[in-house]
Amino acid sequence: MKLEQSDFGQLSDGSKVGLWRLQAGDIEVRLTNFGAAIVSMICPDTSGNMADIVLGYDTVNEYENDKIYAGSTIGRVANRIDKGRFTLDGNVYELPRNSGEVHLHGGINGFNKALWQAQELEVENGLGLEMKYLSLDNEEGYPGNLQVKVVFSLKNDNSLRIDYYAQTDKKTIVNLTNHSYFNLAGSGDILDHELWLNSEYFLPMNKNFVPIGAELSVKNTPMDFHKQTRIGNRINDNYQQIKLAGGYDHNYVISGNGGEMRKAAIVHEPQSGRVLEVFTTQPGIQFYSGNFLDGSVTGKSGKVYQKRNGLCLETQHYPDSPNHKDFPSIELSPGDTYRQATIFRVTAE
Ligand code: GLA
Repeated sequence: MKLEQSDFGQLSDGSKVGLWRLQAGDIEVRLTNFGAAIVSMICPDTSGNMADIVLGYDTVNEYENDKIYAGSTIGRVANRIDKGRFTLDGNVYELPRNSGEVHLHGGINGFNKALWQAQELEVENGLGLEMKYLSLDNEEGYPGNLQVKVVFSLKNDNSLRIDYYAQTDKKTIVNLTNHSYFNLAGSGDILDHELWLNSEYFLPMNKNFVPIGAELSVKNTPMDFHKQTRIGNRINDNYQQIKLAGGYDHNYVISGNGGEMRKAAIVHEPQSGRVLEVFTTQPGIQFYSGNFLDGSVTGKSGKVYQKRNGLCLETQHYPDSPNHKDFPSIELSPGDTYRQATIFRVTAE
């Protein structure tokens, strides 16, 4: 096991940013405190060949200019809030509409654009890095000073665990996730990846990618990943929800109880034999097949990110929760602690 810190350069305002390299089990992970982001995750395939299985950048300035949320922590509220508007205790709050008509991924300067305070932590059977950020009252329109803590732990069993904590001094809303794009082959598109989701229902959405309300059964639709299926098999099907998203970009309802750690997804890449397992305490998971990647972003080692070169499995509360009283609540009151956890485990078979 090894943890090393180095400089990741400076932001445009001169602030110094760090890069941490953690090595445990068969995998090596690099993290930065700009956006509390996963920069790389290097893992062996069945023959022991190493590859980086997440998208990202070589320099902090590219993270500063990033528009695809590569690897970052997303908050204060991940995914979409319709019209950037919600009501809390009778007060109406207006948030920036930074994606057409809607508020997306915490706004213009969400947690992915924040410089977090990092500190090494002792964890059992692994290495830990804690990142803290104080999101001020009214930042991006959200009420309350929110103290956020994200702990990354890399364990000997090849798992990267992310623990999320938050506390507020005024009632607010919180929904944190990590926006890593995975490509278990290390390059190319993700259409040959096979996906299993622990989910029988998903949330159909409207043209603004906002859930229309009811949960819909995945049965007999191209949305069904209850049986492990190659992602490319049905991604161009003439099914309204697939057409609307240009592929997959939907919140799935994870079976079992929110609040309890359970398996949410398995991704298998047949060429390399790499397998990614996702466990979480969250009630939902956004499966996004990288449909908006269009070759306009150049990432690590000059790699151009083309359409569907990465897939995201964003464990989260449901999109637009504050405007759907029947969705699990994302409200947080003073005195309470927001707490969620997600584990990404990578092996080769
Ligand atoms: C999420 C959304 C997508 C897109 C990406 C970022 O996964 O669901 O629609 O906004 O983030 O590009």
